[in-house]
Amino acid sequence: DLSTKVAGLSLPNLLFNASGVCCQTEADLKLMIESESGSLITKSATYEYREGNPSPRYLPLPSGLGSINSMGLPNEGYEYYLNFAKNYDYSSKKPLFISLSGLSLADNVKMCEAFVAADLPCVLEVNFSCPNVPGKPQLGYDMEAMENALNVLAPLIKKPFGVKLPPYFDIAHFDTAAAIFNKFDNLVYVTCINSVGNGLAIDFETESALIKPKDGFGGLGGLMVLNTALANVNAFYRRLPTKQVIGVGGVTSGKEVFLHVLAGASAVQIGTTLKEEGPTVFARINKELTDIMIAKGYKSLDEFRGKVKTL
Ligand code: DHB
Repeated sequence: DLSTKVAGLSLPNLLFNASGVCCQTEADLKLMIESESGSLITKSATYEYREGNPSPRYLPLPSGLGSINSMGLPNEGYEYYLNFAKNYDYSSKKPLFISLSGLSLADNVKMCEAFVAADLPCVLEVNFSCPNVPGKPQLGYDMEAMENALNVLAPLIKKPFGVKLPPYFDIAHFDTAAAIFNKFDNLVYVTCINSVGNGLAIDFETESALIKPKDGFGGLGGLMVLNTALANVNAFYRRLPTKQVIGVGGVTSGKEVFLHVLAGASAVQIGTTLKEEGPTVFARINKELTDIMIAKGYKSLDEFRGKVKTL
């Protein structure tokens, strides 16, 4: 049994897409609906349509260890995703998550107001961690700005919502961020982690950066971020006892999903591997996780969620 609950909604299984992958257009989202994912989340929306950065802007790394991207928030504009949410079949068993990434607090307010007015059973996830818009620092690394944003957005959204976080690398940052999140009752989950920001991939032969935007700097994903992701999931799982954590980062097989749940994840998202393998990845990894649970004698995720042992 791979079923789980997030923000009060039931998912038939714990897997879905990491926001940004297979979720910009209705055609992408249809593939997610038809896949064996347990849910789906839309591409982070801005107030207006964005073309995003010049290509190449995403590449899997030749090392096989992951990917680099500097997409630059290409998206259809929030009204497109609001319209998708209005037409979504909520009886389909797959809850719908909507990612919002306004370029300013005022834009996040306007987008949240529009979704609140529509009063839909989808869950809003505010993205505090887009590293790829030139000139825009991410909110997740500015604790004061993040708390200010939550002071405005949490009462406006009223219903349960989540936030997408960048990876943190310092225990004091886990403590400070968690203390902020614990002030907001309707902030019911955090999604950890967004890409590890601003890596640089260089081709040995051509001596050139691999991607075009930002002099080749971009967010890292895939296997190389697994341990950072597990640490962030577990750090927030320990510090947010009344909230949930969605794990994302480094999933290539059922094994990494199992580790995310041991670290405390209530659901697990797949980015790089979904991008590379396509939506059949969900059927494969659900099966692999089922086999692991049978081999280890676990019947439900609850039996091992957050139960990582320490020495
Ligand atoms: C983009 C990347 C992110 O990591 C994110 O959270 C939002 C958008 C992007 O480059 O499109």
